[in-house]
Amino acid sequence: MNRRRRVYEGKAKILYEGPEPGTLVQHFKDDTTVLHPKKTEVIDGKGVLNNRISEYIFSQLNRMGIPTHFIRRMNMREQLIKEVEIIPLQVVVRNIAAGSLAKRLGIEEGTVLPRSIIEFYYKNDELDDPMVSEEHITAFGWAAPQEIDDIMALAIRVNDFLSGLFLGVGIQLVDFKIECGRLYEGDLMRIVLADEFSPDSARLWDSQTAEKMDKDRFRRDMGGLIEAYQEVARRLGIMNENE
Ligand code: C5P
Repeated sequence: MNRRRRVYEGKAKILYEGPEPGTLVQHFKDDTTVLHPKKTEVIDGKGVLNNRISEYIFSQLNRMGIPTHFIRRMNMREQLIKEVEIIPLQVVVRNIAAGSLAKRLGIEEGTVLPRSIIEFYYKNDELDDPMVSEEHITAFGWAAPQEIDDIMALAIRVNDFLSGLFLGVGIQLVDFKIECGRLYEGDLMRIVLADEFSPDSARLWDSQTAEKMDKDRFRRDMGGLIEAYQEVARRLGIMNENE
């Protein structure tokens, strides 16, 4: 039985009320979902790996002065986070053509983009997260113009830092999705990185072989998802072989 009140349940995570006001507990599930074609599978141990990988990445970002909601990992599946007001956007940053961009624009997967591209999608399960422009975001009041600027600046800093971090361990950061939230501290409000950073929400390719080390292994029924996530964790130096 859960001791804490459940605040929100998504496809891969649950948020519980935290121990102190202004905090939440983020719990990583093993559920793995794809919308098109719709499929869900419980992959044993995925939540544990994502909790560890996301802890590592968010700690590094915090250390670099890039603000996130992350406070500390609590146990194998849970981390303590600051409560934020989630902005209903998925912000995708792309360095190399893959996935929906490759498909939509007919660009061969693996093509290095002339520059990094930022895209916005409206977070809405029923609508399958449609792509939106800044016009839609401001017209419908999902974020203010200044907030969009802050989000884009945050996304670029995250991309620059993490591209280098992954390259250092032989991994190409092809693309990734982030979510941002409004953190209220007294009279002040600032935009911080929320949600998670894991191979569920990023494309990570081996620099040498271009082997996929991310959720595309599940999307494309390639198998070996846990082994790939373990290898990401191992290269980042955050898990030893026995864990
Ligand atoms: O599918 P697409 O190419 O648009 O995905 C771009 C990036 O955003 C990928 O790294 C994917 O894992 C991530 N993404 C996500 N959640 C979604 C859609 C995409 O994490 N709902």
